[in-house]
Amino acid sequence: MTQHTTNNTHDDLAFGVDIGGSGVKGALVNVRTGELVSERQKIKTPQPSTPDAVAEVVRQLVDAEHWDGPVGITVPSVVREQVALTAANIDPLWIGTHVQDLFQGHLGAREITVLNDADAAGLAEVRFGDPTARTGAVMMLTFGTGIGTALLIDGELYPNTELGHLPFGSTTAEKYASSKVREKENLSYADWAQRVDEVMHAYSKLFNPLTFVVGGGISRDADRWVPLLTVEQDVVPAQLRNEAGIIGAALAVKENTKP
Ligand code: BGC
Repeated sequence: MTQHTTNNTHDDLAFGVDIGGSGVKGALVNVRTGELVSERQKIKTPQPSTPDAVAEVVRQLVDAEHWDGPVGITVPSVVREQVALTAANIDPLWIGTHVQDLFQGHLGAREITVLNDADAAGLAEVRFGDPTARTGAVMMLTFGTGIGTALLIDGELYPNTELGHLPFGSTTAEKYASSKVREKENLSYADWAQRVDEVMHAYSKLFNPLTFVVGGGISRDADRWVPLLTVEQDVVPAQLRNEAGIIGAALAVKENTKP
């Protein structure tokens, strides 16, 4: 267990959880500084990834820190008024689930906010990342099992955009250029960057953002593929890397952002 003491008053803290197709990650976050104040823990996403099985894993993460305060949670789904409407890389049973009730059932009565994973990452980058992320029309892309998207205008979020599912040739953007596809097809960074570039040109044509912010685990290796992109916009690697979802989830519950 981590001591949540020095420089972290209880009021600044929330637990953030990022649920993905392969892992459920969580940590206690200081939402004033954007820092993780406990070590990031990760548990494999249970299979099947039903709502109850995943919520139980979230309870384990939160209990391991002996945390009884607010919890923000991301899911790879559209979440409108705390109901999951899609389930792209998790069990279809999520569709129609009232996610706040679900997690309250497992974590007990406390403040809980659930939001889309890419939206959470966008909120975190706006607050704690590169200043360009909060300037004008920004499109944030997260590359992982799928492609997540967040549209931001001067730091304000238009929630639940699902542009990873944009039809693309005979397939969709995320089935063509997610980082999972790169691994599965064993693509070099150059070959994968070319696909990402094509997808970003399509986004550029349709949305004309001022800047793209690119995140997800693969932003660690940004210098190997970002320079190969040819879109006219600046492409800024996300600064919070793999932790943006956790931090954004914690921010959302503290600020009562409920898309
Ligand atoms: C889902 C989105 C999610 C993205 C990244 C997509 O398949 O539809 O809701 O943000 O993957 O996880």
